[in-house]
Amino acid sequence: MRIYQPTVLLFATVVSLYISTVSAATSGGSRQLLYSRDNPITVPPYLIFENERLERAYVALQAWKQAMISDPWNLTLNWFGSRVCDYNGVVCSSSIDDPLIKTVSGVDLNHGDIAGHLPEELGLLTDIALFHVNSNRFCGTIPLGFSQLSLLYELDLSNNRFAGKFPSVVIGLPSLKYLDLRYNEFEGGLPESLFEKDLDALFLNSNRFTSKIPVNMGNSPVSVMVLASNRFEGCIPTSFGRMGKTLNEIILMDNGLQSCIPNDMGLLKNVTVLDVSYNWLVGELPESMGQMENLEVLNVERNMLSGVIPEEICALNNLIEFKFGSNYFTGEPLMCRNLESYNNTMNCLKDEKAQRTTMECKVFLSKPVDCNSYKCNPVTPCLSPPPPQILPSAPPPELYPPAPSPSQPPPSRPSPPIYSPPPPLPPCAQQPAVQSPQNSSSPSMN
Ligand SMILES: *[C@@H]1O[C@H](CO)[C@@H](O)[C@H](O)[C@H]1NC(C)=O
Ligand SMILES: *[C@@H]1O[C@H](CO)[C@@H](O)[C@H](O)[C@H]1NC(C)=O
Ligand SMILES: *[C@@H]1O[C@H](CO)[C@@H](O)[C@H](O)[C@H]1NC(C)=O
Ligand SMILES: *[C@@H]1O[C@H](CO)[C@@H](O)[C@H](O)[C@H]1NC(C)=O
Repeated sequence: MRIYQPTVLLFATVVSLYISTVSAATSGGSRQLLYSRDNPITVPPYLIFENERLERAYVALQAWKQAMISDPWNLTLNWFGSRVCDYNGVVCSSSIDDPLIKTVSGVDLNHGDIAGHLPEELGLLTDIALFHVNSNRFCGTIPLGFSQLSLLYELDLSNNRFAGKFPSVVIGLPSLKYLDLRYNEFEGGLPESLFEKDLDALFLNSNRFTSKIPVNMGNSPVSVMVLASNRFEGCIPTSFGRMGKTLNEIILMDNGLQSCIPNDMGLLKNVTVLDVSYNWLVGELPESMGQMENLEVLNVERNMLSGVIPEEICALNNLIEFKFGSNYFTGEPLMCRNLESYNNTMNCLKDEKAQRTTMECKVFLSKPVDCNSYKCNPVTPCLSPPPPQILPSAPPPELYPPAPSPSQPPPSRPSPPIYSPPPPLPPCAQQPAVQSPQNSSSPSMN
């Protein structure tokens, strides 16, 4: 077809130029073929677009449609032609920099059950603020082309099949506030830079993240952080208390965290939900938690905590639910019974029902807990250079829906609790050379 020819070539050039720009930008100048496709997207000459940005969006959306191998609800059936703003799931609005121009400002294919991957060309959607594809079957990684999405504010990739290392391309997105990667198969550690980023909500639960939570976690300004159901290990970072001004909900449940609870938890005065259940936490509940005046839900069950529950905690005005079953607590104030929802089973509480056996308690409680032995303060290694900055975190359970996003929470999948054997002590026998702003350890048991 003769008349298609020039345009075909023109747009093939545009797309490949775009891709080499991205690859040059992200590989420090060395040219590298990041992506190649059998059928480059071309724009038929008979298509008339309102403006050039919508034409670029056409290329992006057609490339994406080509990258889909199953669309059981026919959501993309009308994804053809130049009227991209009429495509199912595509939202257009006036451009920020030029109100007279209409551009694609959002994509929402939530609950589409679509299988496929995300192509590099999605980086052509430079005007989008929302990208919501939760509950589909997209796999692979997040393309580096996403680095072009400088207006992207909400990224919801939850409940898909994305895999590989934490997608660092999101760190560079200057407008990103809401990051939802839960229910995927991401693995490895988390970059420290994630916690320096000005996010409002971070959902990483139910992936395969491993290693420690970065020590700078407390620098994050998020209001919601869910790291549940991963394989994070090591300490709850002592920087935790720094999030007092902004943090509302934090869910660290179902990981392999092993340390005492930081002493200055009480600084988290705006937290309403705190869940550290299903870990390997030891020591006592810090008395300072009695200052968490907004706390409504506190779940510490299934750990190895001991000591007496501080009365200050049960006296908290807003506390509704307190679960501390399956630990080794030896005492609880009567006041706790007044809570609406309350569970103290499987502890070492005298005269209470459903407790551990005397022998079990005796054996466990005979070994005093030394919080310092977990070396949770920033440690300068004895003989080697500073520790790597990569630490993982875990995402939240379904019980706590994402506050700030319009997206629906993904359906819950059963996630088996991940238990790992107690962590070995760090090889370095010395005390930390770096002074930490606060001690993270709870008092040792007597
Ligand atoms: C999707 O489209 C195909 C072909 O047009 C049709 O056979 C199928 O029933 C449609 N599926 C749904 C869920 O509408
Ligand atoms: C933190 O809590 C106080 C009351 O305890 C409230 O006045 C303030 O608005 C809250 N801040 C945020 C960011 O939620
Ligand atoms: C209390 O928690 C335990 C697990 O720690 C659970 O097995 C039990 O069913 C709970 N009891 C109530 C009344 O919720
Ligand atoms: C912090 O812990 C260290 C080591 O256990 C101890 O020497 C020091 O007094 C503690 N500081 C505070 C402020 O509790």
